[in-house]
Amino acid sequence: MSVCYLEQQEQPCFCFEGRRAGPAPSPLLVLILLTLAAPAFAQPAGEAACRPVRAAFQVLQPGAKWVPESPVPGSDLQVCIPKGSTCCSRRMEEKYQAVARQNMEQLLQSASMELKFLIIQNAAVFQEAFEIVVRHARNFTNSMFRNHYKSMGPRALKFVGELFTDVSLYILGSDISVNDMINEFFDSLFPLVYSHLINPGFPDPSVEMTECLRAARRDLKAFGNYPKMMMTQVSKSLQATRVFLQALNLGIEVINTTDHLKLSKECGRALLKMWYCSHCQGLLLAKPCAGYCSAVTYGCLAGVGEIDRHWRDYISSLEGLTKGMRGVYDMEHVLLNLFSLVRDAIIYVQKNGGKISATVSRLCGHAQQRQYRSTNYPEDLFIDKKVLKVTHIEQEETLLSRRRELIMKLKSHSDFYSSLSEYICNHSSAVQNDTVCWNGQEVVERYSPQIPRNGAKAQPGNHEGKMKGPEPVISQIIDKLKHINQVCCRPASRDGSRVGGFQISLTSPMLSLGSAKQPQAALGAELVPL
Ligand SMILES: *[C@@H]1O[C@H](CO)[C@@H](O)[C@H](O)[C@H]1NC(C)=O
Ligand SMILES: *[C@@H]1O[C@H](CO)[C@@H](O)[C@H](O)[C@H]1NC(C)=O
Ligand SMILES: *[C@@H]1O[C@H](CO)[C@@H](O)[C@H](O)[C@H]1NC(C)=O
Ligand SMILES: *[C@@H]1O[C@H](CO)[C@@H](O)[C@H](O)[C@H]1NC(C)=O
Repeated sequence: MSVCYLEQQEQPCFCFEGRRAGPAPSPLLVLILLTLAAPAFAQPAGEAACRPVRAAFQVLQPGAKWVPESPVPGSDLQVCIPKGSTCCSRRMEEKYQAVARQNMEQLLQSASMELKFLIIQNAAVFQEAFEIVVRHARNFTNSMFRNHYKSMGPRALKFVGELFTDVSLYILGSDISVNDMINEFFDSLFPLVYSHLINPGFPDPSVEMTECLRAARRDLKAFGNYPKMMMTQVSKSLQATRVFLQALNLGIEVINTTDHLKLSKECGRALLKMWYCSHCQGLLLAKPCAGYCSAVTYGCLAGVGEIDRHWRDYISSLEGLTKGMRGVYDMEHVLLNLFSLVRDAIIYVQKNGGKISATVSRLCGHAQQRQYRSTNYPEDLFIDKKVLKVTHIEQEETLLSRRRELIMKLKSHSDFYSSLSEYICNHSSAVQNDTVCWNGQEVVERYSPQIPRNGAKAQPGNHEGKMKGPEPVISQIIDKLKHINQVCCRPASRDGSRVGGFQISLTSPMLSLGSAKQPQAALGAELVPL
């Protein structure tokens, strides 16, 4: 059965498909309907009719004198167009619309609260954790120099400090090249190694000599393949780390964008109609039908719905990334082990000291002719090396398990954007079973969606709130999501799995280097889950 009214002479006829399949309405329902409808329609001219409306409106706008004394024709209304008379004025309509928009914004924000907090908190925790790892790695490297190469003095520590400062900056997104920072480190280190280890007693090299040694370092491949190895490991692990942090920050940005969504004009009107036009008819207790609510919010959030697919991709990319953050893609593993690569690089120079010395004196001329003396590289370095052997440990590492936990929680939010509309209707007192509810025009016994007159397919929400292409801000974040989904380290998971499951043994090598703190314990202490 189809019920049609003429709202106004010039306006088109709005049709409602009234599927009254069941038996006649129960007397109780009829009673409810009549009671709800009573103030506006049973006694349209009654002095008292608008009194409850005024009382309710006072709560929204204390002191306002905008509510008519008694029902009026309301011909100036734009959205809550009355069929008979109304208790609303134009200014009330405006206020109601503003309140409806606020409600929607609050609902959007409360919907995302848990998710947003999860990502913000983790972004902060991981950033701090990475900084802690860098500090430890620097300490280990410093300890290595202090314990084994004291003769090189504080300048070696300065170069170590500079290297790790660059590492920190890189993780935070600074535009520097990992290869450059590592080259710079070895360039600076070589003159020191040359003058203190290969030629002990060699006077501090002059500026020209230093420059010459720096240049010779690369040509001679004085440190062998170690700088290259270090570049590969450091750039892979730092890239993964950096992308991971960037991805978390992007997640925050995406949610923040939809939290502060600019609702369209059509949406504002649809929300007004859904939440407040009933008040104009004195139906203060009428609640929107669930089906109607979902159509309205679906229309309002049409652009946001576009994010859904990319958001799901984002979470699985992040999962892939974290799974790949192992071995050379795990900064904890790489950085905490860096000191041993540096040490091996120095040992390499020492072993080839004779050859290097000869070439340097040829290249850099005024290098004093000096008998190459085999320097004492301490035996214990080699003992260390055995202890340091990469060992397989079953135990989860703090950061690794923390990443897993984050991904697990994030996955439970992968339908965030597709269930947003449902969340809003769940939390805005829509009548779940669609019986005796407000359909935007009147209280109906049973809600059924409007069928578009032009015969277009009835899809959820294609008739309320009006869909448009996504807002520019939405398109922007979709582009960013697509980008991060692309860069999110596909090779990492494959390459990484080769070395995956291996972690440096964190117990012995550090102790043998005289480090007071054992890294895992230190991390554990500083990374107590919040
Ligand atoms: C690094 O070593 C210094 C002293 O050598 C110490 O004060 C500092 O706490 C250490 N930092 C970490 C992160 O272990
Ligand atoms: C969130 O979005 C608002 C409005 O778009 C902006 O003013 C604010 O800076 C953003 N905050 C964050 C943390 O991105
Ligand atoms: C909405 O409410 C229903 C029923 O209470 C529940 O099953 C569903 O998970 C809720 N959905 C959201 C997104 O809150
Ligand atoms: C609809 O739900 C309300 C309360 O949630 C209940 O009182 C009413 O009986 C339900 N109607 C139907 C037809 O299920």
